[in-house]
Amino acid sequence: MCGICCVVNLSASSQCVLQKHVREKLQNRGPHSSRDITETASRYSCLFSSHVLHMRGVLTPQPLQDDDGNTLLWNGEVFGGLPVGAEENDTKVVIQHLSLCKNPSDLLSVLSQVKGPWSFIYYSKVNQCIWFGRDFFGRRSLLWSCGSEEGSFTLTSVSSRLPDSDSSKWLEVPAVGVYRLDLKSCSQGGKLKLELYPWVYLGDEPSNDFSSEGLPSSVSLVMNNAGLQLNFPVNPMNTSIQAVDSNDEPNHTFSLTSSDDLKEFLLKSTKKQELVRSLIDVLSEAVRRRVQSLPYTDNVSPTETPKSDEAQVAILFSGGIDSMILAVLADRHIPPDKPIDLLNVAFKLQERKMNQGSKKKQHKNKNNGEHVNVSVNDITSSDQRTSNCFDVPDRITGRAGLQELKKISSSRKWNFVEINVTQEELKEMREKRICHLVHPLDTVLDDSIGCAVWFAARGTGIVSEGAEEKDHTSNAKVVLTGIGADEQLAGYSRHRVRFKNSGLEGLVKELAMELGRISSRNLGRDDRIIGDHGKEARFPYLDEDVVSFLNSLPVWEKADLSLPRGIGEKLLLRLAAVELGLGPSAVLPKRAMQFGSRIAKLENNHEKASDKCNRLVTS
Ligand SMILES: *[C@@H]1O[C@H](CO)[C@@H](O)[C@H](O)[C@H]1NC(C)=O
Ligand SMILES: *[C@@H]1O[C@H](CO)[C@@H](O)[C@H](O)[C@H]1NC(C)=O
Ligand SMILES: *[C@@H]1O[C@H](CO)[C@@H](O)[C@H](O)[C@H]1NC(C)=O
Ligand SMILES: *[C@@H]1O[C@H](CO)[C@@H](O)[C@H](O)[C@H]1NC(C)=O
Ligand SMILES: *[C@@H]1O[C@H](CO)[C@@H](O)[C@H](O)[C@H]1NC(C)=O
Repeated sequence: MCGICCVVNLSASSQCVLQKHVREKLQNRGPHSSRDITETASRYSCLFSSHVLHMRGVLTPQPLQDDDGNTLLWNGEVFGGLPVGAEENDTKVVIQHLSLCKNPSDLLSVLSQVKGPWSFIYYSKVNQCIWFGRDFFGRRSLLWSCGSEEGSFTLTSVSSRLPDSDSSKWLEVPAVGVYRLDLKSCSQGGKLKLELYPWVYLGDEPSNDFSSEGLPSSVSLVMNNAGLQLNFPVNPMNTSIQAVDSNDEPNHTFSLTSSDDLKEFLLKSTKKQELVRSLIDVLSEAVRRRVQSLPYTDNVSPTETPKSDEAQVAILFSGGIDSMILAVLADRHIPPDKPIDLLNVAFKLQERKMNQGSKKKQHKNKNNGEHVNVSVNDITSSDQRTSNCFDVPDRITGRAGLQELKKISSSRKWNFVEINVTQEELKEMREKRICHLVHPLDTVLDDSIGCAVWFAARGTGIVSEGAEEKDHTSNAKVVLTGIGADEQLAGYSRHRVRFKNSGLEGLVKELAMELGRISSRNLGRDDRIIGDHGKEARFPYLDEDVVSFLNSLPVWEKADLSLPRGIGEKLLLRLAAVELGLGPSAVLPKRAMQFGSRIAKLENNHEKASDKCNRLVTS
């Protein structure tokens, strides 16, 4: 993970300045090397500023320049697509490929080959233009702003929320394509012209569905006139809603309620078994790519070699099925003597709200008529520490999940890091750091998730060893998150509503829409939040091969929403979980992080998740 930034000024006479508060945030993302390069031509000047987090290989400072003076700022990981040797650095590999490009279409072809998350800024000196953008999912953040002065333009991984009086306005760069800023033509007219090169599925017409909304009038965003485009590195979604072969129809003769039922169901269908194994294979490989090639596997820089008893990989861990599967698969690929940190965040419940909370919960379960035998309440009652104010639902399922993991892999050291956050600390850190990172997103939901993920990823908590509680801070630079599973496998309750009201057709549309907007809803924000700790967020469920595999399946193979909660949604993943040896966690219903961690309970109960959050506004 790196912090990258570029400030363009269309009058060479005025200096490009990177504001101090932005630089600080960039440095948090890239603590190991910082460098600025200024390029001045007759009519413009550019400041390129890169802050590098060293992940593997030899530290490669950025901005990186080739012999012709082309400059690359790369905030990404090449996990495939372009060959990167074990000792090679991906930033170098990318610039080598870009240097060879003779025209825009060469450059687009390089970018669409890359598998892995990225955002980048590339200054082509000969052509006097700047290319920039985010991968097709927007797994890395990039913001743009057109400063208050005419003719200035800034790109940055992260910025900060300023009092409303400040006129510079930040927006996430839409992950709909890559952009080209022509400095020559700009400087003549004093207006900025941005060309868009859109992401499309092979063979599709590019849609004209982009807008320059929010961009000031001094910038014009246009589709590139050569009609060039980038090919999506994944298969399009299978929108089929009717099985051709009746053998493929969902079979409702089973009533599935427990993980044992799922096991039995799986045994009876060889076709399902095949699918489940394919899913496990592709997901396992995605996890492998994200947990290997870390500092401990190639100790090139001895001063930085991590202590051998420290985990190199951490998982945002609620004990729910998405994070459990990541843990089981990570266990396969991480050397057996290395610990794995499971980061579990809880916000303090006040006494009054605690009682309310548990009453409500029981009430709900009765009314839902759920048949699923494992519920939070069952686990709670068998747990001694019921009265603890940090015993939020995710803490309880997290502990249960830990027990399951210990059964599956008993020799592994699992550090279950209990991260307890008080209201005071939440308030302090939200004002100091988190509100800036969430920016420019601004809803109640962004606030809740942003804060929960920030504290979880910081990894400061306690680990119990026997009866002893020890302070523990996770220093793992790689943080795996389960995001993307619900969007692809119909895990949210709104999917049920959609299915009920408009059937499979409605469900397919909903899933396609959600996958399309995941960059602007979640990924940029989560990248900024996790990156702030000098750690790198990695999303195995959004690996290109995983997405391609899931997209190729018709929706009824992924979920069966006629089955009860805890079973029907993400059905295929639940089957994969039992195949991997998981038990009760395989049938836990989805609980959104803001409720599981109870952060949403701390705040005003009458807010809607989509409301603008006034706690994020600084004065
Ligand atoms: C390349 O070097 C940068 C900076 O040292 C680092 O962040 C990145 O992880 C490296 N990539 C590879 C593939 O070695
Ligand atoms: C549905 O399940 C029943 C009961 O096991 C089985 O006999 C039947 O073959 C299944 N049908 C399909 C289409 O899989
Ligand atoms: C729930 O568990 C009880 C005993 O533990 C068992 O008798 C019952 O059949 C289970 N119900 C379901 C729906 O699995
Ligand atoms: C954190 O909360 C857990 C309950 O989930 C409790 O057992 C532990 O003692 C708490 N630790 C601290 C340091 O407050
Ligand atoms: C979509 O799924 C159906 C049913 O399995 C299959 O027949 C069809 O080939 C799939 N389409 C694509 C494009 O993969």
